[in-house]
Amino acid sequence: MSIVDDHLTANYARYPVAFARGEGARLWDEDGNEHLDFLAGISVSNVGHCHPAVVAAIQAQAAQLIHVGNLFYTEPMVALASRLARHSLGDGTRVFFTNSGAEAVEAAIKCARKAKQGGDVVSLNGAFHGRTYGALSATPQESKQAPFAPLVPGFRSCEPTAAAITAAVDDRTAALLLEPVQGESGVWVLDDDVLVAAREACDRHGAALVFDEVQCGLGRTGSFWAFEQTPVVPDLMTTAKGLGGGLPIGALMAGPAYADVYAPGDHGSTFPGGPVIMAAAHAVLDVLADEALLARVRDLGEHLRAGLAELPGVGAVRGRGLMNAFDLTEGGAPDLVRRALLEERLVLNATGPVTVRLLPPLVVTAEQVDEALARLTRLLTP
Ligand SMILES: Cc1ncc(COP(=O)(O)O)c(C=O)c1O
Repeated sequence: MSIVDDHLTANYARYPVAFARGEGARLWDEDGNEHLDFLAGISVSNVGHCHPAVVAAIQAQAAQLIHVGNLFYTEPMVALASRLARHSLGDGTRVFFTNSGAEAVEAAIKCARKAKQGGDVVSLNGAFHGRTYGALSATPQESKQAPFAPLVPGFRSCEPTAAAITAAVDDRTAALLLEPVQGESGVWVLDDDVLVAAREACDRHGAALVFDEVQCGLGRTGSFWAFEQTPVVPDLMTTAKGLGGGLPIGALMAGPAYADVYAPGDHGSTFPGGPVIMAAAHAVLDVLADEALLARVRDLGEHLRAGLAELPGVGAVRGRGLMNAFDLTEGGAPDLVRRALLEERLVLNATGPVTVRLLPPLVVTAEQVDEALARLTRLLTP
Protein backbone atom coordinates (compact mmCIF):
# COMPACT_ATOMS: atom_id res chain seq x y z
CA MET A 1 0.00 0.00 0.00
CA SER A 2 1.44 3.38 -1.00
CA ILE A 3 -0.68 5.43 1.42
CA VAL A 4 1.01 6.88 4.52
CA ASP A 5 -1.39 7.72 7.36
CA ASP A 6 0.04 10.57 9.45
CA HIS A 7 -3.03 12.70 9.99
CA LEU A 8 -6.17 10.63 10.49
CA THR A 9 -7.29 10.27 14.11
CA ALA A 10 -6.50 6.81 15.45
CA ASN A 11 -10.03 5.64 16.26
CA TYR A 12 -10.13 3.03 13.46
CA ALA A 13 -7.78 0.03 13.33
CA ARG A 14 -7.57 0.11 9.54
CA TYR A 15 -6.14 -2.70 7.43
CA PRO A 16 -3.19 -1.98 5.11
CA VAL A 17 -5.33 -1.99 1.97
CA ALA A 18 -6.56 1.02 -0.03
CA PHE A 19 -9.50 0.42 -2.34
CA ALA A 20 -9.81 2.33 -5.58
CA ARG A 21 -12.76 0.87 -7.50
CA GLY A 22 -15.87 -1.26 -7.01
CA GLU A 23 -18.48 -3.07 -9.07
CA GLY A 24 -21.22 -5.33 -7.70
CA ALA A 25 -19.67 -7.51 -5.00
CA ARG A 26 -16.13 -6.89 -6.22
CA LEU A 27 -13.54 -4.32 -5.14
CA TRP A 28 -10.14 -3.51 -6.62
CA ASP A 29 -7.29 -2.14 -4.53
CA GLU A 30 -4.89 0.55 -5.73
CA ASP A 31 -2.54 -2.13 -7.10
CA GLY A 32 -5.34 -3.58 -9.22
CA ASN A 33 -5.94 -6.70 -7.11
CA GLU A 34 -9.54 -7.95 -7.19
CA HIS A 35 -11.31 -8.63 -3.86
CA LEU A 36 -14.62 -10.30 -3.06
CA ASP A 37 -16.61 -8.02 -0.77
CA PHE A 38 -18.66 -9.84 1.89
CA LEU A 39 -19.08 -6.78 4.08
CA ALA A 40 -20.54 -4.11 1.76
CA GLY A 41 -19.26 -1.27 3.94
CA ILE A 42 -21.22 -2.85 6.84
CA SER A 43 -24.51 -3.28 5.00
CA VAL A 44 -24.26 -0.04 3.00
CA SER A 45 -23.59 -1.17 -0.57
CA ASN A 46 -26.65 -3.45 -0.58
CA VAL A 47 -27.29 -2.90 -4.30
CA GLY A 48 -23.60 -3.47 -5.03
CA HIS A 49 -20.76 -1.06 -5.61
CA CYS A 50 -21.43 1.64 -8.19
CA HIS A 51 -24.79 0.22 -9.32
CA PRO A 52 -25.29 1.79 -12.77
CA ALA A 53 -28.75 3.14 -11.88
CA VAL A 54 -27.39 4.77 -8.72
CA VAL A 55 -24.43 6.28 -10.60
CA ALA A 56 -26.71 7.63 -13.33
CA ALA A 57 -29.16 9.11 -10.80
CA ILE A 58 -26.35 10.86 -8.91
CA GLN A 59 -24.80 12.23 -12.10
CA ALA A 60 -28.09 13.53 -13.46
CA GLN A 61 -29.15 15.17 -10.21
CA ALA A 62 -25.70 16.67 -9.51
CA ALA A 63 -25.88 18.48 -12.84
CA GLN A 64 -29.25 19.99 -11.89
CA LEU A 65 -29.29 20.93 -8.17
CA ILE A 66 -27.03 19.76 -5.32
CA HIS A 67 -28.23 21.64 -2.25
CA VAL A 68 -30.94 24.06 -1.22
CA GLY A 69 -31.58 23.19 2.44
CA ASN A 70 -34.59 22.33 4.54
CA LEU A 71 -36.39 25.66 4.41
CA PHE A 72 -37.62 24.65 0.96
CA TYR A 73 -39.09 21.66 -0.80
CA THR A 74 -37.46 19.65 -3.55
CA GLU A 75 -39.36 17.07 -5.52
CA PRO A 76 -36.89 14.20 -4.86
CA MET A 77 -37.18 14.75 -1.09
CA VAL A 78 -40.97 14.84 -0.96
CA ALA A 79 -41.21 11.83 -3.28
CA LEU A 80 -38.74 9.77 -1.23
CA ALA A 81 -40.57 10.56 2.02
CA SER A 82 -43.75 9.44 0.34
CA ARG A 83 -42.20 6.17 -0.87
CA LEU A 84 -40.75 5.35 2.55
CA ALA A 85 -43.95 6.29 4.37
CA ARG A 86 -46.18 4.25 2.04
CA HIS A 87 -43.94 1.19 2.41
CA SER A 88 -43.30 1.16 6.15
CA LEU A 89 -45.53 1.90 9.13
CA GLY A 90 -48.95 2.45 7.58
CA ASP A 91 -51.29 5.28 6.63
CA GLY A 92 -50.29 8.64 8.04
CA THR A 93 -46.59 7.78 8.50
CA ARG A 94 -44.23 10.76 8.20
CA VAL A 95 -40.46 10.79 7.56
CA PHE A 96 -37.60 12.87 8.95
CA PHE A 97 -34.34 12.63 6.98
CA THR A 98 -30.90 12.55 8.61
CA ASN A 99 -27.27 12.09 7.52
CA SER A 100 -26.61 8.85 9.40
CA GLY A 101 -28.01 6.01 11.46
CA ALA A 102 -27.06 7.56 14.80
CA GLU A 103 -28.88 10.76 13.88
CA ALA A 104 -31.98 8.77 12.94
CA VAL A 105 -31.82 7.16 16.39
CA GLU A 106 -31.46 10.62 17.99
CA ALA A 107 -34.53 11.74 16.09
CA ALA A 108 -36.47 8.71 17.35
CA ILE A 109 -35.44 9.29 20.97
CA LYS A 110 -36.33 12.99 20.83
CA CYS A 111 -39.67 12.21 19.18
CA ALA A 112 -40.59 9.61 21.82
CA ARG A 113 -39.50 11.85 24.70
CA LYS A 114 -41.44 14.81 23.35
CA ALA A 115 -44.55 12.66 22.97
CA LYS A 116 -44.28 11.39 26.56
CA GLN A 117 -43.11 14.78 27.89
CA GLY A 118 -39.94 13.18 29.25
CA GLY A 119 -39.43 9.61 30.30
CA ASP A 120 -36.83 6.87 30.15
CA VAL A 121 -35.42 5.05 27.17
CA VAL A 122 -35.00 1.29 27.52
CA SER A 123 -32.64 -0.57 25.20
CA LEU A 124 -31.46 -4.17 25.10
CA ASN A 125 -28.16 -5.70 26.14
CA GLY A 126 -26.10 -6.46 23.05
CA ALA A 127 -27.56 -3.47 21.20
CA PHE A 128 -25.67 -0.99 19.06
CA HIS A 129 -27.41 2.24 18.08
CA GLY A 130 -24.53 4.61 17.22
CA ARG A 131 -21.91 6.94 18.65
CA THR A 132 -23.66 10.27 19.20
CA TYR A 133 -24.60 10.91 22.83
CA GLY A 134 -28.22 9.78 22.76
CA ALA A 135 -27.49 6.76 20.57
CA LEU A 136 -24.41 5.91 22.65
CA SER A 137 -26.44 6.18 25.85
CA ALA A 138 -28.76 3.53 24.35
CA THR A 139 -25.76 1.30 23.48
CA PRO A 140 -25.10 -0.59 26.71
CA GLN A 141 -21.46 -1.51 26.11
CA GLU A 142 -18.97 -0.52 28.79
CA SER A 143 -16.01 -0.16 26.40
CA LYS A 144 -17.88 2.25 24.13
CA GLN A 145 -19.59 4.27 26.86
CA ALA A 146 -17.07 4.53 29.73
CA PRO A 147 -14.50 6.87 28.10
CA PHE A 148 -17.24 9.37 27.29
CA ALA A 149 -19.12 9.57 30.58
CA PRO A 150 -21.28 11.24 31.73
CA LEU A 151 -23.89 10.00 29.30
CA VAL A 152 -27.44 11.23 28.77
CA PRO A 153 -29.58 10.58 31.84
CA GLY A 154 -32.67 8.37 31.74
CA PHE A 155 -31.33 5.41 29.77
CA ARG A 156 -31.68 1.83 31.05
CA SER A 157 -31.07 -1.56 29.48
CA CYS A 158 -32.30 -5.11 30.03
CA GLU A 159 -31.69 -8.59 28.67
CA PRO A 160 -33.31 -9.29 25.28
CA THR A 161 -35.91 -11.66 26.74
CA ALA A 162 -39.69 -11.36 26.99
CA ALA A 163 -39.63 -11.51 30.81
CA ALA A 164 -36.89 -8.89 31.19
CA ILE A 165 -38.61 -6.49 28.78
CA THR A 166 -41.95 -6.93 30.52
CA ALA A 167 -40.27 -6.08 33.83
CA ALA A 168 -38.21 -3.15 32.49
CA VAL A 169 -40.88 -1.14 30.65
CA ASP A 170 -43.10 0.87 32.97
CA ASP A 171 -45.24 4.02 33.02
CA ARG A 172 -42.11 6.24 32.96
CA THR A 173 -40.84 4.66 29.74
CA ALA A 174 -40.88 6.94 26.69
CA ALA A 175 -39.31 4.44 24.30
CA LEU A 176 -38.22 0.85 24.02
CA LEU A 177 -35.49 0.79 21.38
CA LEU A 178 -34.31 -2.44 19.76
CA GLU A 179 -32.80 -3.97 16.63
CA PRO A 180 -35.01 -6.87 15.41
CA VAL A 181 -31.69 -8.46 14.37
CA GLN A 182 -28.80 -7.24 16.50
CA GLY A 183 -25.90 -6.56 14.15
CA GLU A 184 -22.80 -5.26 15.87
CA SER A 185 -22.92 -7.81 18.69
CA GLY A 186 -22.70 -10.68 16.21
CA VAL A 187 -26.02 -11.11 14.35
CA TRP A 188 -28.63 -12.21 16.86
CA VAL A 189 -32.17 -12.58 15.51
CA LEU A 190 -34.61 -11.65 18.31
CA ASP A 191 -37.32 -14.29 18.78
CA ASP A 192 -40.92 -13.42 17.94
CA ASP A 193 -41.96 -13.87 21.59
CA VAL A 194 -39.47 -11.13 22.58
CA LEU A 195 -40.89 -8.74 19.98
CA VAL A 196 -44.48 -9.54 20.97
CA ALA A 197 -43.63 -8.89 24.63
CA ALA A 198 -42.02 -5.60 23.57
CA ARG A 199 -45.15 -4.56 21.66
CA GLU A 200 -47.44 -5.50 24.57
CA ALA A 201 -45.28 -3.73 27.16
CA CYS A 202 -45.22 -0.52 25.08
CA ASP A 203 -48.99 -0.65 24.53
CA ARG A 204 -49.61 -1.25 28.24
CA HIS A 205 -47.47 1.70 29.35
CA GLY A 206 -47.91 4.21 26.53
CA ALA A 207 -44.29 3.91 25.35
CA ALA A 208 -43.04 4.10 21.77
CA LEU A 209 -41.76 0.84 20.33
CA VAL A 210 -38.77 1.84 18.18
CA PHE A 211 -37.18 -0.60 15.75
CA ASP A 212 -33.67 0.30 14.66
CA GLU A 213 -33.44 -1.16 11.15
CA VAL A 214 -30.30 0.76 10.26
CA GLN A 215 -28.41 -2.48 9.62
CA CYS A 216 -31.11 -5.14 9.21
CA GLY A 217 -33.51 -3.19 6.97
CA LEU A 218 -33.60 -2.51 3.22
CA GLY A 219 -33.68 -6.10 2.01
CA ARG A 220 -30.80 -7.34 4.12
CA THR A 221 -32.79 -10.12 5.82
CA GLY A 222 -34.77 -11.09 2.69
CA SER A 223 -37.78 -8.83 3.25
CA PHE A 224 -37.82 -5.12 2.58
CA TRP A 225 -37.92 -4.40 6.35
CA ALA A 226 -36.85 -6.96 8.94
CA PHE A 227 -40.06 -6.39 10.94
CA GLU A 228 -42.10 -7.78 8.02
CA GLN A 229 -40.92 -11.28 8.97
CA THR A 230 -42.20 -10.80 12.54
CA PRO A 231 -45.70 -10.47 14.03
CA VAL A 232 -44.96 -6.93 15.27
CA VAL A 233 -45.18 -3.44 13.75
CA PRO A 234 -43.23 -0.72 15.62
CA ASP A 235 -44.35 2.88 16.25
CA LEU A 236 -41.10 4.42 15.06
CA MET A 237 -38.42 2.97 12.82
CA THR A 238 -34.93 4.08 11.83
CA THR A 239 -33.10 3.33 8.61
CA ALA A 240 -29.78 4.52 7.11
CA LYS A 241 -26.78 2.59 5.72
CA GLY A 242 -28.05 0.95 2.51
CA LEU A 243 -30.59 3.62 1.60
CA GLY A 244 -28.22 5.98 -0.23
CA GLY A 245 -26.36 3.38 -2.29
CA GLY A 246 -23.16 4.51 -0.51
CA LEU A 247 -24.01 8.19 0.08
CA PRO A 248 -24.70 9.33 3.66
CA ILE A 249 -28.35 9.18 4.62
CA GLY A 250 -30.67 8.16 7.43
CA ALA A 251 -34.35 8.47 8.13
CA LEU A 252 -36.83 8.23 10.95
CA MET A 253 -40.21 6.87 9.99
CA ALA A 254 -42.86 7.99 12.48
CA GLY A 255 -45.96 5.82 12.31
CA PRO A 256 -49.47 7.30 12.62
CA ALA A 257 -49.46 7.65 16.42
CA TYR A 258 -46.21 9.66 16.36
CA ALA A 259 -46.36 11.31 12.93
CA ASP A 260 -47.46 14.70 14.25
CA VAL A 261 -45.19 14.91 17.29
CA TYR A 262 -42.57 17.11 15.65
CA ALA A 263 -43.62 20.74 15.17
CA PRO A 264 -41.70 23.52 13.38
CA GLY A 265 -38.44 24.32 15.17
CA ASP A 266 -38.32 21.09 17.21
CA HIS A 267 -35.53 19.39 15.35
CA GLY A 268 -33.43 19.88 12.23
CA SER A 269 -30.15 19.51 10.36
CA THR A 270 -28.53 21.30 7.42
CA PHE A 271 -27.81 18.58 4.89
CA PRO A 272 -30.46 15.84 5.13
CA GLY A 273 -32.88 15.42 2.26
CA GLY A 274 -30.42 16.89 -0.25
CA PRO A 275 -31.48 16.19 -3.83
CA VAL A 276 -28.39 14.18 -4.89
CA ILE A 277 -28.74 11.74 -2.01
CA MET A 278 -32.50 11.56 -2.51
CA ALA A 279 -31.94 10.72 -6.19
CA ALA A 280 -29.50 7.95 -5.21
CA ALA A 281 -32.03 6.59 -2.70
CA HIS A 282 -34.79 6.51 -5.32
CA ALA A 283 -32.53 4.40 -7.52
CA VAL A 284 -31.76 2.08 -4.58
CA LEU A 285 -35.48 1.64 -3.84
CA ASP A 286 -36.13 0.84 -7.51
CA VAL A 287 -33.57 -1.99 -7.30
CA LEU A 288 -34.86 -3.32 -3.97
CA ALA A 289 -38.51 -3.23 -5.09
CA ASP A 290 -37.82 -6.46 -6.99
CA GLU A 291 -39.48 -9.39 -5.13
CA ALA A 292 -37.24 -11.81 -7.01
CA LEU A 293 -34.17 -10.11 -5.52
CA LEU A 294 -35.56 -10.51 -2.00
CA ALA A 295 -36.37 -14.18 -2.66
CA ARG A 296 -32.80 -14.67 -3.86
CA VAL A 297 -31.49 -13.04 -0.66
CA ARG A 298 -33.44 -15.63 1.36
CA ASP A 299 -32.24 -18.54 -0.81
CA LEU A 300 -28.61 -17.46 -0.95
CA GLY A 301 -28.67 -16.86 2.82
CA GLU A 302 -29.76 -20.46 3.42
CA HIS A 303 -27.12 -21.72 1.01
CA LEU A 304 -24.42 -19.61 2.70
CA ARG A 305 -25.38 -20.74 6.21
CA ALA A 306 -25.40 -24.41 5.12
CA GLY A 307 -21.92 -23.97 3.62
CA LEU A 308 -20.57 -22.15 6.66
CA ALA A 309 -21.80 -24.92 8.97
CA GLU A 310 -19.59 -27.40 7.06
CA LEU A 311 -16.37 -25.40 7.49
CA PRO A 312 -13.64 -26.79 9.76
CA GLY A 313 -13.46 -25.03 13.14
CA VAL A 314 -16.86 -23.39 12.78
CA GLY A 315 -19.36 -23.75 15.63
CA ALA A 316 -22.63 -21.80 15.68
CA VAL A 317 -23.89 -20.26 12.44
CA ARG A 318 -26.76 -17.77 12.63
CA GLY A 319 -28.54 -15.11 10.68
CA ARG A 320 -31.43 -14.25 8.39
CA GLY A 321 -31.25 -13.58 4.67
CA LEU A 322 -27.81 -12.21 3.86
CA MET A 323 -27.12 -10.96 7.41
CA ASN A 324 -25.07 -13.80 8.87
CA ALA A 325 -22.33 -14.69 11.33
CA PHE A 326 -20.40 -17.73 12.48
CA ASP A 327 -18.46 -18.49 15.64
CA LEU A 328 -15.03 -20.11 15.61
CA THR A 329 -14.82 -22.89 18.20
CA GLU A 330 -11.21 -21.93 19.03
CA GLY A 331 -11.65 -18.13 18.68
CA GLY A 332 -9.29 -16.04 16.55
CA ALA A 333 -11.95 -14.22 14.51
CA PRO A 334 -9.97 -10.96 14.07
CA ASP A 335 -6.96 -12.93 12.82
CA LEU A 336 -9.08 -14.94 10.40
CA VAL A 337 -10.61 -11.73 9.02
CA ARG A 338 -7.15 -10.22 8.53
CA ARG A 339 -5.87 -13.34 6.78
CA ALA A 340 -9.01 -13.48 4.63
CA LEU A 341 -8.33 -9.95 3.41
CA LEU A 342 -4.57 -10.23 2.91
CA GLU A 343 -4.21 -13.87 1.81
CA GLU A 344 -7.52 -14.62 0.06
CA ARG A 345 -8.76 -11.11 -0.85
CA LEU A 346 -12.07 -11.78 0.84
CA VAL A 347 -13.52 -8.84 2.80
CA LEU A 348 -15.17 -9.90 6.09
CA ASN A 349 -15.58 -8.45 9.57
CA ALA A 350 -15.10 -9.72 13.14
CA THR A 351 -17.68 -8.53 15.66
CA GLY A 352 -15.69 -9.98 18.57
CA PRO A 353 -12.98 -12.50 19.42
CA VAL A 354 -14.95 -15.53 18.19
CA THR A 355 -17.47 -14.15 15.69
CA VAL A 356 -17.10 -13.41 11.98
CA ARG A 357 -19.90 -11.45 10.24
CA LEU A 358 -20.82 -11.66 6.56
CA LEU A 359 -22.88 -8.90 4.91
CA PRO A 360 -22.36 -9.26 1.14
CA PRO A 361 -24.10 -6.93 -1.30
CA LEU A 362 -27.59 -8.30 -1.96
CA VAL A 363 -26.74 -8.59 -5.66
CA VAL A 364 -24.02 -11.15 -4.90
CA THR A 365 -24.19 -14.17 -7.23
CA ALA A 366 -24.47 -17.83 -6.19
CA GLU A 367 -21.01 -18.36 -7.74
CA GLN A 368 -19.57 -15.60 -5.56
CA VAL A 369 -21.13 -17.17 -2.45
CA ASP A 370 -19.47 -20.47 -3.37
CA GLU A 371 -16.21 -18.66 -4.06
CA ALA A 372 -16.31 -17.03 -0.60
CA LEU A 373 -16.95 -20.46 0.96
CA ALA A 374 -14.00 -21.92 -1.00
CA ARG A 375 -11.70 -19.12 0.20
CA LEU A 376 -12.85 -19.65 3.81
CA THR A 377 -12.30 -23.40 3.47
CA ARG A 378 -8.68 -22.78 2.40
CA LEU A 379 -8.15 -20.43 5.35
CA LEU A 380 -9.69 -22.75 7.91
CA THR A 381 -8.25 -26.06 6.72
CA PRO A 382 -5.36 -26.93 9.05
C1 LIG B 1 -28.35 -0.94 14.25
C2 LIG B 1 -27.53 0.29 14.07
N1 LIG B 1 -28.01 1.47 14.48
C3 LIG B 1 -27.31 2.61 14.32
C4 LIG B 1 -26.05 2.60 13.76
C5 LIG B 1 -25.30 3.88 13.60
O1 LIG B 1 -25.29 4.27 12.27
P1 LIG B 1 -24.21 5.34 11.74
O2 LIG B 1 -22.88 4.70 11.83
O3 LIG B 1 -24.65 5.64 10.34
O4 LIG B 1 -24.34 6.53 12.64
C6 LIG B 1 -25.51 1.39 13.32
C7 LIG B 1 -24.17 1.35 12.71
O5 LIG B 1 -23.53 0.33 12.59
C8 LIG B 1 -26.26 0.20 13.47
O6 LIG B 1 -25.78 -0.98 13.09
